[in-house]
Amino acid sequence: MKYIQIAGTDLQVSNIVMGNMRLKQLSLSEAETLIRTAMEEKINFFDHADIYGGGECESYFSEAIGMNASLREQMILQSKCGIRKGFFDFSKEHIIASTEGILKRLNTDYLDILLLHRPDALVEPEEVAEAFDELEKSGKVRHFGVSNHTPMQTELLQKHLSQKLIVNQLQFSIAHTPMIDSGIAFNMNVDQSVNRDSGILDYCRLNGITVQAWSPFQKGFFNGPFLGDLEEYAELNKLIDSLADKYNVANTAIAVAWITRHPANIQVVTGTMNLGRLKDCCQGSDIPLTREEWYGIYKAAGNILP
Ligand SMILES: NC(=O)c1ccc[n+]([C@@H]2O[C@H](COP(=O)([O-])OP(=O)(O)OC[C@H]3O[C@@H](n4cnc5c(N)ncnc54)[C@H](OP(=O)(O)O)[C@@H]3O)[C@@H](O)[C@H]2O)c1
Repeated sequence: MKYIQIAGTDLQVSNIVMGNMRLKQLSLSEAETLIRTAMEEKINFFDHADIYGGGECESYFSEAIGMNASLREQMILQSKCGIRKGFFDFSKEHIIASTEGILKRLNTDYLDILLLHRPDALVEPEEVAEAFDELEKSGKVRHFGVSNHTPMQTELLQKHLSQKLIVNQLQFSIAHTPMIDSGIAFNMNVDQSVNRDSGILDYCRLNGITVQAWSPFQKGFFNGPFLGDLEEYAELNKLIDSLADKYNVANTAIAVAWITRHPANIQVVTGTMNLGRLKDCCQGSDIPLTREEWYGIYKAAGNILP
């Protein structure tokens, strides 16, 4: 397992993250086995959100593992707030109330990282700053970040915060690549050159913000995995399978490696609830795909290389 340092912190984090959005699919004992397996595979980073399973995934996680002080110290716990039923809410009141709920459900005194989940168009950055100061001073949250935020939204927040935003969690997979598309097809008269994300990857690299890739196996917006989809992604699957043979790993590991190979040190937030697949993901933590292989995968997913 490869570990990376999150800039501006003392956090040494695994580049594979266990995402807990689907944890309630499992029985409690299956959930315990999955979490323990993740730890045995040297994953030390666990991603949550106050809305996963309506909040139930967080309590399920702590119940399944039997959260205690010693276990807590072996984990880096991240959660998110700001999405409510039918609207977004970055008010001071909601950020603080949500965080208190998260801590209670995870059965811990502190979060390592709190993310603002999706941009709130009505954000008042001064209020967010007050909430973060209070959470930091009380020791309830060590670090802060965002998810699905543009560079300018991040700048606006950062201008008012006394803490550095250290993470931006964004959708990224072989079959979902707006973060790199327009850069590769820059200045061309093709759809791929349309800049849909305002240069977020370069912005994060320039500012020492760690990017976390959510839904690393999905195509579209929760449209199912591209691995094994021989209708839409036949060429891609063929290439992935041949690389899996070459590196003697599962196809899942190659899908992970395509992300971890990027020099931005992106963390891969996997959502699998399948024990075997979780182990396969970990194999992809540090596979040295060549440039030719990396670009070959990008092209086989249906993109152009000018
Ligand atoms: N910040 C955000 O806005 C945001 C949004 C969504 C998710 N997230 C985070 O990202 C994590 C991952 O999200 P996700 O679960 O959507 O992403 P994912 O890991 O890309 O997808 C997982 C789903 O794909 C299935 N799958 C993966 N590989 C497969 C294969 N080879 N064949 C068949 N099925 C396969 C899994 O089934 P199995 O369980 O059977 O393997 C599972 O249902 C979440 O847990 C959450 O922590 C964040």
